[in-house]
Amino acid sequence: MAVSLKQAVRKTAMQAMLMRERLESGHAYNPVAYRNTQDPYPAYAALRERGQAHRSRLMNAWIFGRYQDVAAILPDWQRFTNDGTKAKRPGKRTVIPDPGAAPSMLSLDPPDHRRLRGLVSKAFTPRAVNALEPHIRSLMHELLDGIDDLNGFDLMDVVARPLPVIVIAEMLGVPVEDRPRFRSWSDRRARILEPTISAEERADAVLAGADLDAYFAPLVEERRADPRDDILSGLVQAEEEGDRLDGNETITMLRLLLVAGNETTVNLIGNGMLALLQHPEQLQRLREDPSLIPSAVEELLRYDSPVQLDLRRIVEDCDVNGFPVKRGEDIVMLIGGANRDPEQFTDPDGLDVGRDQGSHISFGRGIHACIGAPLARLEARIAIEVLLERFSSIRLAGPPPRFRPSIVLRGLESLPVAAEA
Ligand code: HEM
Repeated sequence: MAVSLKQAVRKTAMQAMLMRERLESGHAYNPVAYRNTQDPYPAYAALRERGQAHRSRLMNAWIFGRYQDVAAILPDWQRFTNDGTKAKRPGKRTVIPDPGAAPSMLSLDPPDHRRLRGLVSKAFTPRAVNALEPHIRSLMHELLDGIDDLNGFDLMDVVARPLPVIVIAEMLGVPVEDRPRFRSWSDRRARILEPTISAEERADAVLAGADLDAYFAPLVEERRADPRDDILSGLVQAEEEGDRLDGNETITMLRLLLVAGNETTVNLIGNGMLALLQHPEQLQRLREDPSLIPSAVEELLRYDSPVQLDLRRIVEDCDVNGFPVKRGEDIVMLIGGANRDPEQFTDPDGLDVGRDQGSHISFGRGIHACIGAPLARLEARIAIEVLLERFSSIRLAGPPPRFRPSIVLRGLESLPVAAEA
């Protein structure tokens, strides 16, 4: 009862903010409206067409959705920071999430960012990651071997959810059998990225973070006593080498890699397979010419990015390609919108697995550009290759799949399919 009253109050407050937004700028953008969580692209196009930036009351931020602007903001950390503690305006609600006790590299500027990223970057180079290919391929076969009935199964449950969590847990050195627990913590924790998160969800995300920390603490001690060849042991060693890492930073790094490396890749596989199944002629092109699969992965990242929005705080009064912005204001970048900008991509709403034009922004740009990109690309490529090898046909089955209601991490609730061996 109390919850539904709170929800009603929140809904009314949201409607009032949207009304004010419409009065002020002639347009209201409601990212959490059901139609926008299911298909955000028409709303992004409307925002792009209306002008360079839109003032969102709901998110208390400037929204930029044109490719050139997003590409300019992302790498410019001196003027547009990920560190929500900088240039904070007193009393203002902010869209930059509270990073928790020890900030992760994602929310730090150099020099701390450089120091922390340097400690794990070796594990994620294309070379190190490509060495995992045979193992990931055999994991993929094992997952498909577990399907009970080819006439109807959920591709999210069978492949998209388990594969990334097994791979990242093994790389980190945390027991894979604990993955149902990670999934729940990681799902709840990932909500903290949502700019429209409620107070209850934020509290729950903070608790999930604390649960993850409590889970990691004894593992760190185990590796201190008995190092192995995994990222966790590498971090513990860096801790012991002096001032490069402290105990809290180790735990924060583990938490970041587990959460960032999980949900996003799940959604690349899920959104990507949905796009291919909705465009059977494109899937057929991949069957006929599997050498197109790497470029298909790039196109799927562009077409329906797992990360739709990214946030920055403005450090000094400045401008974004001529649009003036003020210190302390926040920016929301529409990554999914930039990826569909007709100024950058021909026929941006079309899926073309052979597209060889421009580059998407789905992994970000600059110092914070995704460290896990080579791993995500590899997992998606292998998932598509093995699905095509094992099944002579695969098609959507059941009602149209629905997307979860989040606005930053875009992903499916389920993806029911039928296949033939
Ligand atoms: C398709 C899958 C993925 C997508 C779309 C994605 C997207 C992104 C984006 C957009 C950023 C930049 C955030 C910003 O600038 O504010 C980022 C950063 C990051 N990603 Fe990913 N990611 C994916 C997979 C992974 C994987 C597999 C891992 C690790 C195992 C990972 C770890 C990270 C980390 C640690 C950062 C922060 C890097 C830094 O601050 O220097 N991501 N990711």
